[in-house]
This record gives sequence, C-alpha cells and structure tokens, in this order.
Amino acid sequence: MTRSLAKDTDQGLSSDPKYLLPRYFYDDRGSMIFQKIMEMPEYYLTRCEMEILTGQKLEITRTFTEDSSPFDLIELGSGDGVKTKVLLKHLVKENARFHFFPVDISQKVNDDLIRQLKTEIPGLYAEALTGDYFRMMEDLNKVSGNRKVILFLGSNVGNFSDDEVSLFYRKLRKIMRAGDMILTGFDLKKDPAVIMKAYNDPHGYTRDFNLNLLVRLNRELGAGFDPGLFEQYTEYDPVSGDVKSFLISLKDQTVGIASLGKTFHFRKWEPVFTERSRKFDPGTIHKLAGTNGFRVRKNFTDAREYFMDSLWIKE
Ligand code: AVJ
Repeated sequence: MTRSLAKDTDQGLSSDPKYLLPRYFYDDRGSMIFQKIMEMPEYYLTRCEMEILTGQKLEITRTFTEDSSPFDLIELGSGDGVKTKVLLKHLVKENARFHFFPVDISQKVNDDLIRQLKTEIPGLYAEALTGDYFRMMEDLNKVSGNRKVILFLGSNVGNFSDDEVSLFYRKLRKIMRAGDMILTGFDLKKDPAVIMKAYNDPHGYTRDFNLNLLVRLNRELGAGFDPGLFEQYTEYDPVSGDVKSFLISLKDQTVGIASLGKTFHFRKWEPVFTERSRKFDPGTIHKLAGTNGFRVRKNFTDAREYFMDSLWIKE
C-alpha cells in the first residue's frame, strides 16, 4: 500500500476516533514552526540532546570508528542537522572514512542542509535522500555495501505506538548486518509539569504546529477548514509515557475536502488525534533493544537525565 496525504487523511477522518498522521506536520511551513518550537526554552529535548552530543562526542564517535572500515552514516529524519553537525565535524577532524546520508521528508529542509554542510564542513561527503524514512529504508542498502551507522535522534521514535516501534526496529534490523549500529534519541519520563510545558507552550507555536495540518489540507487537498474553529489540547499519561495531542472542534461543523469529493462531520468538542510524543524509562529502552534483536552498547545521558541517546548493535 502506498501512503499519500489524500488516502491517509480520508482514512484518518473516517475513523472513530478521528486522527491525522504526524508525518504530515512537516511541509515547508510546518518545518519552520518546528524550528521555532526547538528554540523555545520550554522545549528541553533539543538542548538536552545537544548537551549529550557535544559533551560526549569523543566517546560516541569512537564507537563508530572502532571498526576501521569505511561506513555510511545515515540519519533518519535529519531536519536542520544542527545536532548532527557536532558529530560530523568531529568525525571529519579525525579523518574518519565515512559518507553522510541525511534522510528527510522535506525537500527544502534537505536542500538547505546540504548547502550548509558544503560551506561549514568542507571535506564531508554528503548526499540527501528525500522521502518518508519507512519507505527510504529499502533504498539505504543501495547507496553502498559499506557497514552502516544509523542515527535516529531527537525523540522522533516517540511518535510511534508500541506496535510501530517494533515494526520500525525489525524493518531496520533487516537492512542491517551484524555489527551495524543504531543510535536512537529517547526522551525520558520526568516531572510531568516539565513535560507538559514543552507541549503546552505559552508562545502558541505548538498550537500553530497542530493547526498547520488543517492549513495544509486546505492548500493541498482543497479542504475548507477554518483553523479558528479548532483548538490544540495535549495530555500526558505518566504510566504509558504518552503525550497525546489533539485538535478539538469548537463547534458542530461539516468540512468539505474537494480532492476527496467528500465532507466530514465534526461534533462540538470532538477530538482529532494528531500526535503521540512518547516518554520512555531506561528499563523499557533496554527491553526494546533485546526484543528486537539488538544489544545495548552504551547509553549516553545529559546531567539531569532528561534524555537518553542509546547506542545499539545488531547481533
Ligand atoms: C519531532 C516528534 C520529536 O514529539 O517532541 C514537538 C514533535 N510535537 N512539539 C516531539 C513535536 C510538538 C517532536 N518530535
């Protein structure tokens, strides 16, 4: 089955409860709003991971180059690459033999990143792949026969349900060979008040980020949403670790989507589930590795233990 905005939207808005998929947040405008989110003081995730990568780049890159054969460094969901540049610069400085392949869903984000890398890190070989990383996975082995080090940073893994997490690592494991590595960024369970502030921000960027999904449907599918008639709502469940975001319909309304030739009804206060941003505990991360065929090589955390970059090896 091939995914598309039209099909996924039709399916999501025909379901009960309704949902939209977080992968569609990242059109050009959504990617820009996400940049704003990362700059907010309340959104601790980016700075925690930056602290880890900056403070522990020696240990992290040493594990990549222990095997002295050339490798492909593949980043799934690379975005602006700000955090990854820390590792890239260090690897280039150490004359590591590797090629960098950022994979992102936004062409513009990829173009910007490649342009920046050319000037900021001369001597780095980088080639961007555009598309959703589930689909790109099959292409990853075609780039070369070299061993692979995969980066999946920024708590992107938090978007997945339990089933999707397993599916993701199993799929990934299939394209990896024994000794290949994956470094995943997991946001950890912490004071619920700290978590809630990151997603219910006072600046309104998270609201704009969610409402942008509707703006995108208007533009790309000829939908008739009035974003003013929906509000963002976010909750945190400290047991499952799920932060769940919703768009709530503020009134009884019917919205047409021209390219689907359909209308959808929204009851007053009806929620549309837009995103899961799951928080993990270290025990769960360890179990995840084992049940999916990986061995934990090393965990890297920040001083407050808010975030964990966990390095796994395929056995
Ligand atoms: C990019 C999926 C890691 O879930 O924290 C930020 C996206 N959503 N604020 C996250 C997001 C609302 C982010 N990830």
